[in-house]
Amino acid sequence: MRVIRRLNFGEGPLYRAVRLEALRESPEAFSSGYEEAVARSEQSWADQADSSAAGLNRVTFVVIGDRPVGLAALYRDEEDPNLGELVQMWVAPEVRGGSVAADLLFEVFRWAGFNGISHVKAEVVKSNTRALRFYEKFGFVASDVGAFESASSWLLIKRVDLENL
Ligand SMILES: CC(C)(COP(=O)(O)OP(=O)(O)OC[C@H]1O[C@@H](n2cnc3c(N)ncnc32)[C@H](O)[C@@H]1OP(=O)(O)O)[C@@H](O)C(=O)NCCC(=O)NCCS
Repeated sequence: MRVIRRLNFGEGPLYRAVRLEALRESPEAFSSGYEEAVARSEQSWADQADSSAAGLNRVTFVVIGDRPVGLAALYRDEEDPNLGELVQMWVAPEVRGGSVAADLLFEVFRWAGFNGISHVKAEVVKSNTRALRFYEKFGFVASDVGAFESASSWLLIKRVDLENL
């Protein structure tokens, strides 16, 4: 059995374990590095986990099967509260190509829709063709939101439509 749920208060160690695995397994996909992350204090992981465990500005979802196999977070934009940024999206290699990543994305969009976020953006490294294909498959398109400019990444965006998730 596999469960997708919001990370709870006090789950810093779980958050740390999944995020470190993601950074170790897919270093090219993320802007933070494994070495920097592994050196962080337990307290900083606890604080980050707790900051998204309740409230309307941040949420983190974990996928738990026999072991944790997925992670995704949505952070509300500080300047535009209708906009959320999808970050830390990762599923373990053994569940790729199935429904896990889609189910995780669905939960993110459901939460966004029920919490007043109308658009979700995601920054994707241009060489990450698998993630690009994944996001495009689910309706993300290239965006010119804000003054984002990067030679190495795409900024993708998707409108949140609760009736057609
Ligand atoms: C991105 C991620 C969450 C997507 O989950 P997934 O289970 O792999 O996604 P899916 O298999 O549903 O979709 C991937 C698509 O890319 C295709 N694909 C696979 N390898 C590919 C490659 N090297 N180049 C282009 N497309 C590729 C797949 O065929 C599939 O498309 P299809 O459904 O039309 O056949 C997952 O791959 C992952 O965790 N990757 C590592 C971390 C990461 O890149 N995170 C995103 C950060 S922005």
